[in-house]
Amino acid sequence: MGSKQKSIKISYHEIGTISELYEMDKQLVDLALRAADRAYAPYSAFKVGAAVLLEGGIIVSGSNQENAAYPSGLCAERVAVFAASSDYPDRIIEKIAVVSKDHNGQIRAVTPCGSCRQVLYEYETKQGEPIRILIFGKDEVLIEFKDIRSLLPFGFSKEQMV
Ligand code: THU
Repeated sequence: MGSKQKSIKISYHEIGTISELYEMDKQLVDLALRAADRAYAPYSAFKVGAAVLLEGGIIVSGSNQENAAYPSGLCAERVAVFAASSDYPDRIIEKIAVVSKDHNGQIRAVTPCGSCRQVLYEYETKQGEPIRILIFGKDEVLIEFKDIRSLLPFGFSKEQMV
């Protein structure tokens, strides 16, 4: 069999600025921004906030938590999604909004790191329903991915272990 060149297309939705969002999304981004203000980031001064929307309208937020032993800290996305799964293990996770602020309080685009994508991928696989993800892109324009798979092609899941 001959070798073949293949490619994957990643698509996302460019929504606009905060004021253009639907009310629920606006609230989610707002809670993520408020969570960013509560970040414990004395080493990087890079504050990240995440807000997770569960079915039924419950929102759980989280912020990055740093540590003097650097690798012991955790990103905002995982703090939020672990808290959500821990408090509401059977609720579908519908969406997560992620925002960041630099040391001047300026909103910065942040896309979840590989470990956070892998963690979100686990819950998406577990629940069999997509988790939408809302993040800031350039010039404070919000973009949305329809699922975590789009952000993590070829992610590892339990199906590969059987
Ligand atoms: N960080 C997050 O919380 N989420 C991300 O998606 C990227 C990075 C945190 C980790 C660390 O506390 C700081 O931002 C700088 O990397």
